Amino acid sequence: QSFSDQLSVENEDELEDEKYEKKVTIFFGTQTGTAEGFAKALAEEGASRYDNKVFFKVVDLDNYAADDEQYENKLKKEKLAIFMLATYGDGEPTDNAARFYKWLTEGEAEKGQWLLDLTYGVFGLGNRQYEHFNKVAKVVDKSLSAQGAKQLISCGIGDDDQCIEDDFTAWREQLWPELDALLREEHDEPTNTTPYVASIPEYRLILHEGGAKILEDKHIRKNNGEVNDINHPCRARVAVRKELHTHLSERSCIHLEFDISDTGIIYETGDHVGVYAENTFETVQEAANLLGYSLDTIFSLHGDSEDGHPLSGGSGSLPPPFPGPCTLKTALACYADLLSPPRKAVLAVLAAYASDPNEKDRLAYLASLKGKDDYSQYVAISQRSLLEVMSDFPSAKVPLGAFFAAVAPRLQPRYYSISSSPRFAPSRIHVTCALVYGPSPTGRIHKGVCSTWMKEAIPLEDSRESCSCAPIFVRQSNFKLPEDPTVPVVMVGPGTGLAPFRGFLQERAALQDSGAKLGPAILFFGCRNRQQDFIYEEELNNYVAKGTITSLIVAFSREGPSKEYVQNKMMEQASNVWNYISSGGYLYVCGDAKGMARDVHRTLHDMVQQQESVESSKAEAIVKKLQTDGRYLRDVW
Ligand code: 2AM
Repeated sequence: QSFSDQLSVENEDELEDEKYEKKVTIFFGTQTGTAEGFAKALAEEGASRYDNKVFFKVVDLDNYAADDEQYENKLKKEKLAIFMLATYGDGEPTDNAARFYKWLTEGEAEKGQWLLDLTYGVFGLGNRQYEHFNKVAKVVDKSLSAQGAKQLISCGIGDDDQCIEDDFTAWREQLWPELDALLREEHDEPTNTTPYVASIPEYRLILHEGGAKILEDKHIRKNNGEVNDINHPCRARVAVRKELHTHLSERSCIHLEFDISDTGIIYETGDHVGVYAENTFETVQEAANLLGYSLDTIFSLHGDSEDGHPLSGGSGSLPPPFPGPCTLKTALACYADLLSPPRKAVLAVLAAYASDPNEKDRLAYLASLKGKDDYSQYVAISQRSLLEVMSDFPSAKVPLGAFFAAVAPRLQPRYYSISSSPRFAPSRIHVTCALVYGPSPTGRIHKGVCSTWMKEAIPLEDSRESCSCAPIFVRQSNFKLPEDPTVPVVMVGPGTGLAPFRGFLQERAALQDSGAKLGPAILFFGCRNRQQDFIYEEELNNYVAKGTITSLIVAFSREGPSKEYVQNKMMEQASNVWNYISSGGYLYVCGDAKGMARDVHRTLHDMVQQQESVESSKAEAIVKKLQTDGRYLRDVW
């Protein structure tokens, strides 16, 4: 968007605001679209509840303000605001909420009570399995209140490990009476009390003739040469693809290199790459069969207005349509999440279209609050994919316009820690990806969308003509080596957690080659068995020989009589490790958040207690300080 576009959007926004006496702004911080979907659903219900007399405005936190000053000026004018905020990875905000989060929470004390005019509610989206469960929502809730805003309702805690939609429904039921009390003051009429039924969004569908000009995906996601982000990915070819496990392993781990020469993409060691993969042909074919359309169907989708946004109201729940005309094959491969378990709202849509009364009742029950246990068993615990559900309810034939608007969520990019350094590979982005493959509880073989795509990708070295490519983009991270290369570093990365450290080592080797003096570095790596999954073994040994790392310590979990994990090895080396860290060194942990990173965190705590001979609470404070100083960094998922 150009600057003048932004200005005009803003003016339009203000004009629209002025049409209404009362406004509720619903902000969302979303990564995969759930918080955004909830925000839109809330707005839609609100509009219906108050007969469109109150304006429920849905706002992306990033688009709200261009800088801190604008955040301040605009937020000062808000009277009623709802925040729908997801928490990611290591207790982090979503990308689109990061700027807002930093601005709101920094220097809270100095800002004083400047938000006295604002009344707010926060609903958080998180997963209880993670250590920092719903941290972002809780912090924003506290911070708004500390800055003088008035809490309308206690912070909603959504848990995606269970049924987050039920948590949201319960929170919403508490929210309305509170809002009624505020909004009805000036509207003496009673609020609309007929039970609210969400409408099913649907794109206008245009089917095109066989000979129509098709806008295939490759033409769509072209980089404009300047921005490269989630909304502006750039196609990159797969230059290299290799299996990293030996033939003795029953699992698979792929080393993939994207060629970024001529794309304008730049990256730094430690960054992430987002990859838009495609569903396999098998999955796409199955979906088309279930929908009852041929894969060659050429169609385009249209929102109420041409850009997909409703013309007025601002609360429509349609995401912008994808570009077309395209074939159903392309649409299903690139844009539809077909393998995730469907949310309750999706079951409600299927119920609406089911022609068989039994199927209709069953779907409606599963989607209801009463059907909580059945939903949990049939969908969540069974990890039933959307396609499996569709095949269980064959009478629910959904037209394409509704399928892409309300049934299949948009296929999301997958993120990987980049396993190379631009100092070593300036025109390549390396990825180290474990294949997601295995039976689900229903006996279906679940194949991860992106890892399967990577496993099957055709590299440039095999075929120049038919080599694979994918739209990719770089996401910056704060997982960086210390500026001063003489500072000691301790790296902990079992399995594919090794990825960013491979980049770190490439960077250190390049520094070494240019004559820099390096400080000590220990790498703790963990795998099952030396004969199977000791990935990049030769490279790592070469780095030891060259002195790029001082020591490489490997925990083999399935070799000896008992499990050996990276944290056991860390404890064996406690005095050494703590010596490095306490003398100003950095500790990095990368990999699985729910198990490994949590256990390593506990080990660190024990190590501090033991090495410093202090009580648990003091050890905790020391670890916390390391974190706030940016010397204990985690890249976890
Ligand atoms: P396991 O699969 O034998 O249990 C890379 O995946 C390595 O991390 C494997 O050796 C795996 O061991 C190990 N791992 C699994 N859970 C872990 C945990 N909680 N802490 C540390 N390592 C773990």
